Amino acid sequence: MSQKNIAASQKASQTKGKNKSAKDKRVHSVKGMRDFLENDQLLLEKIFDTFKELTRFYNYRLISTPIVEPLELFERSNGEQSDIVQKEMYQVKARGSSKKLGLRPEFTPSAVRAYIENGLTHQPHPVKLALYGPLFRHDKPQLGRYRQFHQADLEIFSTKNNPLYDAQIILASYRLFEAFKINDVIIQINSIGCKACRPNYVKQLAEYYKKNKKSACEDCKDRLPKNTLRLLDCKKEKCQELKSSVPMSLEHLCVECKTHFKSVLEFLEELGLPYNLNHTLVRGLDYYSKTVFEFTLEKTDANEKFQNLSLGGGGRYDYLVEHFGARHTPAVGVALGVDRIMDLIKERKLSITVRPKDKIFLIHIGELAKRKSLPLIEELRKSKIQIREALGKESLAAQLKIADKLGVKIALIFGQKEAFEDSVIIRDMKTGAQETVPLAKIAKVLKKRL
Ligand code: HAM
Repeated sequence: MSQKNIAASQKASQTKGKNKSAKDKRVHSVKGMRDFLENDQLLLEKIFDTFKELTRFYNYRLISTPIVEPLELFERSNGEQSDIVQKEMYQVKARGSSKKLGLRPEFTPSAVRAYIENGLTHQPHPVKLALYGPLFRHDKPQLGRYRQFHQADLEIFSTKNNPLYDAQIILASYRLFEAFKINDVIIQINSIGCKACRPNYVKQLAEYYKKNKKSACEDCKDRLPKNTLRLLDCKKEKCQELKSSVPMSLEHLCVECKTHFKSVLEFLEELGLPYNLNHTLVRGLDYYSKTVFEFTLEKTDANEKFQNLSLGGGGRYDYLVEHFGARHTPAVGVALGVDRIMDLIKERKLSITVRPKDKIFLIHIGELAKRKSLPLIEELRKSKIQIREALGKESLAAQLKIADKLGVKIALIFGQKEAFEDSVIIRDMKTGAQETVPLAKIAKVLKKRL
């Protein structure tokens, strides 16, 4: 490009920039992805903290895995033709590399990979893992459905497919809902059988749908030869009547699957957890066998908005570990939809205290006090005393107004005289009583007062 051309194109781009309105210059977040401002962020962390507490109590080991994984991990877990791989995955490509990568849409495949890759296979079993964090699915954004969302996830790898673990996974999930005063959760549960008995059930199901093909929606007709079980997942009005009289998987289970499922239900009954045998529950992911479950809200008018949203789900996946080349390892897991739990907490205006109330406010008057305020706050921080300030403000009235608004119990008044004498006034905001205390003793006195 000649000098003349470069100058001309520079000028053109400058003019273009000038013509852009202030609004045009803004960059927006990606559709279906959100910022979490302070209150939401605090609530998110509160949910994760409660989850972490539960995992400690129930002896899960907290791990974290990368957000980006080889695309193959998800393709092989769910099948290349599955909805999650075909429609919902974000694929990423590193510059200069031909390797196909994907943003994780769920934790289970990563947990399996990490379990095998890090030799957890050789550790005493059961190996109980907990994971939490953001995930990505190119879903249609709507209430409770985001393109970046969060899960709290539990996985148990064991030597035998013991129904006790299915119950333990469900129990821990239920306790998380309870911790947030969500006490009207119903466990939707079903068994979709194992490699031995499922093919026969799928055959019966396919025959039923073939016979009634006319009454099925177009999507179901299309899915019938590819993934018959998923027909039970259809939410379209047209298919609801058909669904109401489908053959039930429970009637086609082999003895082992039947015994396993019966035992899971007995554990739930022993624990007093409310469940509903849901014959059409099959789950949207392809690796499941035997027990599958989801958490939904009781059907009430007040819950209508959340009626079709599952707050979490999971099940057994006894074949996934060996599918990735390790020895046969039965496993069961769950993922709780943290964003949906947040939405519900907000909808119900449940009072979940997320930010500890401020108790002390530091008021400074004059330059010397302002300068000495920072080391004073640091001293208090060492004693784990939380303190609010408005050092950017100069006027006493403005600072008092903030202290009042925060409803603090104590104001520390740090004036010129006090700063000079290395002391501070402690003012009880309720009674107005004041006491001057040497800076060296302030932490001790405040601890006593709080
Ligand atoms: P899932 O049913 O795909 O299962 O997701 C679990 C939960 O994540 C859902 O019940 C829902 O609450 C939440 N969720 C899913 N997609 C979205 C979205 N787009 N926006 C907001 N929330 C969403 C799994 O992910 C399995 N890995 C669970 C599992 C663990 N199975 C065995 N171990």
